[in-house]
Amino acid sequence: MQIYYTTPIRERHQFNNLIWLRLEAPALARIARPGQFVLARSTPAPSLDPLLRQPFFLAGADPSTGMIELLIDPRETAATLVAEASVGATLDLCAPPVNPFTLAPTTQTLLLAGAGPSLPALLFLARYVAARMSVALFMAGDPGYLPPPFLLPPTVEVQVSAEGSAGLFTLLNATTTLATHPARWADQLALALPLALIAPAAAVIRSTRLRWERGFAQVALAGPLPCGLGICRACQIETRQGWQRRCSEGPVFDLRDVRVAG
Ligand code: FES
Repeated sequence: MQIYYTTPIRERHQFNNLIWLRLEAPALARIARPGQFVLARSTPAPSLDPLLRQPFFLAGADPSTGMIELLIDPRETAATLVAEASVGATLDLCAPPVNPFTLAPTTQTLLLAGAGPSLPALLFLARYVAARMSVALFMAGDPGYLPPPFLLPPTVEVQVSAEGSAGLFTLLNATTTLATHPARWADQLALALPLALIAPAAAVIRSTRLRWERGFAQVALAGPLPCGLGICRACQIETRQGWQRRCSEGPVFDLRDVRVAG
C-alpha cells in the first residue's frame, strides 16, 4: 500500500472559522474508509519546518473524482500552515493503514456523536452510509468551529451544540424519557472524541441500555500523533488488550475496550 502522497489542493473554502480543502489523491480516495487519518505538511522544499506532519481525519473521500477532503480547525499552530495553503499548492501527505469504523450488516439506524479534532471522521462516515441507512449526527464544539450541516446528505438528521465539547452530552441526554434516548434506539453508535470524553460517553451507554454488546459503540480517538506510524509509542492508550497505539491499532476502537483513569 502506498502511504506517501504529494497532493495538489483543488478547492479551498472557509466555513466560519474552519477551512475546507479538497485534494487530488486518487489512489488514497480509492481505499480510504471512514476513520482514516492523514499526516499532512505544507512545506516549501527544502525547508524542514515544521518537521512533523499534523494529523487530520478525512472528512470525505470520493473514488469517482479521486478527491479527498479535510476540514481543518486552524487553531493548532501546525494545522494553521496547512490551512493557509492556497489552491494549486501541494501538500506532503502520509496516509498509514488504519483501523476504520466497521458497521454490522444488520445496522439500519446509526447514531453518530462527536466533538473535537476527530469529528470530521463522522462526516465521512455519514456521507459513506447515508444512502443505505438512517443516520443521525450529534456534534458539539465552540461557536464558529463546527462543521456546516450542508456538507452532509439531506437525509442525515443533524443536531448541534455550540456550547463547547461538553454540550454533546446535553444534546444526547435532552430526551425526556429513557425509551426515546438516542443511545437506546440506535443499532450502532459511532463516536469521535478526545480521550477526556470517553468516560462520560461510556456513562451515557451504561445508563440507557440494558446490554452493551461488543461492536455497538466505536470511537475514533483524537490526540497528538508525533510519528503516526507506530514507531514512537507516544500515542498509546490503555485498553482491555493492553497498551495500544492510536495510530496503528486505532484510531477507531471499541468503546468498551478503552480504559480511562477514574
Ligand atoms: S504516533 Fe508514534 S507510535 Fe503512534
